[in-house]
Amino acid sequence: MARRFLFPLGVLLGVLLGFILIQPNDLTDFQTHLALLLDEFEFDVSLPRFPQLDLSSVENEWRKLRNSIPEPWKLNTNGLEFTVGETIAARGLSAKHPVVLVPGIISTGLESWSTAPEYRPFFRQKMWGGFSMLSQVTFNREKWLNGLLLDPVTGLDPPGAKVRAAEGIDAASSFIQGYWLWSKIIENMAAVNYDTNNLHLAPYDWRLSYSNLEVRDSYFSKLKATVEGFVFKWVESPQHGNGGPDWVENHIEAVIHIAGTHLAKAMAAFLSGEMKDTVQMNPAGAYVLERFFSRRERRKLFHSWSGSASMWIKGGDAVWGNTTFAPDDVDNRNQTHGELIAFRETVVKALGEHINNMTADTASNWILEHTPEHFQKMIATNYSYGIERDEESLKQNALDHTKWSNPLEVQLPNAPTTKIFCVYGHGKETERSYWYTREAYEYDEVQPDATPAICENATNCFTPRAPLDMPLSRKSMIDAEYTDNALNPKVLNGVKMGEGDGTVSLLSLGAMCVEGWKRKRWNPAGMQVTTVELPHKPVGTIPRGGGTTADHVDILGNTALNEIILKVATGAAHEVKDNFVSNIREYAKRVQWD
Ligand SMILES: *[C@@H]1O[C@H](CO)[C@@H](O)[C@H](O)[C@H]1NC(C)=O
Ligand SMILES: *[C@@H]1O[C@H](CO)[C@@H](O)[C@H](O)[C@H]1NC(C)=O
Ligand SMILES: *[C@@H]1O[C@H](CO)[C@@H](O)[C@H](O)[C@H]1NC(C)=O
Ligand SMILES: *[C@@H]1O[C@H](CO)[C@@H](O)[C@H](O)[C@H]1NC(C)=O
Ligand SMILES: *[C@@H]1O[C@H](CO)[C@@H](O)[C@H](O)[C@H]1NC(C)=O
Repeated sequence: MARRFLFPLGVLLGVLLGFILIQPNDLTDFQTHLALLLDEFEFDVSLPRFPQLDLSSVENEWRKLRNSIPEPWKLNTNGLEFTVGETIAARGLSAKHPVVLVPGIISTGLESWSTAPEYRPFFRQKMWGGFSMLSQVTFNREKWLNGLLLDPVTGLDPPGAKVRAAEGIDAASSFIQGYWLWSKIIENMAAVNYDTNNLHLAPYDWRLSYSNLEVRDSYFSKLKATVEGFVFKWVESPQHGNGGPDWVENHIEAVIHIAGTHLAKAMAAFLSGEMKDTVQMNPAGAYVLERFFSRRERRKLFHSWSGSASMWIKGGDAVWGNTTFAPDDVDNRNQTHGELIAFRETVVKALGEHINNMTADTASNWILEHTPEHFQKMIATNYSYGIERDEESLKQNALDHTKWSNPLEVQLPNAPTTKIFCVYGHGKETERSYWYTREAYEYDEVQPDATPAICENATNCFTPRAPLDMPLSRKSMIDAEYTDNALNPKVLNGVKMGEGDGTVSLLSLGAMCVEGWKRKRWNPAGMQVTTVELPHKPVGTIPRGGGTTADHVDILGNTALNEIILKVATGAAHEVKDNFVSNIREYAKRVQWD
């Protein structure tokens, strides 16, 4: 029997890709996360303040600062280094299955490879992640922005620019030196005999659509080759090169989704470019975008990164609810999450325009109508967000790449003995639905389509004949003035809070794991799916919450998560059992699966 392969995903994005993202939801968190990194460091400079500051002095300052912080408070330590690994090693367990880590979107560092004169100063410098990003954003804002934008039509590098994912384990072990991402897991794995021969990190350019990841970088082919390389001696499959129906069964021992964003969301970023409160992002990245770029610029970036469309809401009303009900509504509620986007009566009156509250389906089309035409086309040709219940159609979808990033429209592979683990946090307030408002009419230079399109669904948008006043448009945004703690669920700055890990809502994290994949329709081989919920109990005195935080990103340093990964990797997967701290099983039953 072939030696199997362990494949922990950051967070499943479609078939293979992972996301580890964060959104600094509340200021306290944001402060602890970033205070040292940027603010206390006095990086909250308005741009011209330190024109003479260069990269090396920034780095030196940062090092000095870090050296003066007592050990347990350093951002890159949590006092638990190697401890989980040592405990597991003490039991006599050791590396068994090779491991591939797939980092989350926005965690992979990106570097410039352009030799065009205007980009030469950036050559091999990090455009995303690392100190060079900070200094470039500060002193070279325009170039930085242009370098990271993709061509709106091809979704590839624009002329002159060339940005590629950084390579190796360092590409996503920390975002900026001192802000760890995968480092804790890597340390613990090293303690049970993992090293570069049996541990691989698979960084990728998360700005690209899946299809372009393969077209430009051969990402999936390389990933497959890596996996096969680990198992090479044991596999002499005639289908080698083509995969074939048994490939997963023969190559993958287990998949661990860490805080997997299965039915994701980032809708406000598409519509209004709101990042900090809506985009799941690593806090340093969100900080940079929020701080240095206007909402309009952020929206433009987001629309050019076709990879971001994988965070579009999936399953529509069947999963997310209607005007009167949502599967994850709590008892004694005053409002429903099913109204994904709602407008206050006063707002509607002030606008003098009729506008309805929207559910996932209607909101999805409305948002799409307010995106540029190139983005609509990209979505229509590369993504799909519905729910497919017919088994024949599900089988057919295996041949349609647009369906692969939506677990509701494809079946799990035919791999009866490959195990799936969903591990995620619960107990941190998470945004779930929104109150919106609209600005007065104004000219909007960014929207390339002056005439709003009409979208019947994600594959069917059309632009009616241009009316005469076409360059006028209204901008929509989160109704940030609206806060009401007396409501249930409460409203914070226009966001209706729900359950989750602080970034991703509970339904997205758990519904597929506890219900969807328990059905033959989506899991024909009956692959075993184990769900482990970890309660969010951060240690207040440690900047990133220590070993018991279950925050979307900081969970990578969580002791229980590290134990699970090591157990699965060292062949003790049978010790990992279902564990629930939320009502996900009840909520998921209320989704309209049938
Ligand atoms: C969308 O998919 C098609 C293949 O169906 C591909 O040719 C095109 O480049 C993709 N667009 C983007 C932006 O990835
Ligand atoms: C909303 O969904 C619930 C549960 O599926 C259903 O009972 C209710 O009739 C629906 N309401 C509307 C307005 O469609
Ligand atoms: C919301 O509902 C609760 C009961 O569940 C009630 O006590 C409270 O007054 C309601 N709040 C508003 C603003 O209607
Ligand atoms: C949207 O829903 C809320 C509460 O459910 C309601 O107060 C408001 O009037 C609705 N707005 C519109 C435009 O129908
Ligand atoms: C989208 O709408 C068009 C026209 O109403 C319809 O023909 C098509 O089947 C729909 N596509 C999906 C995926 O629902």
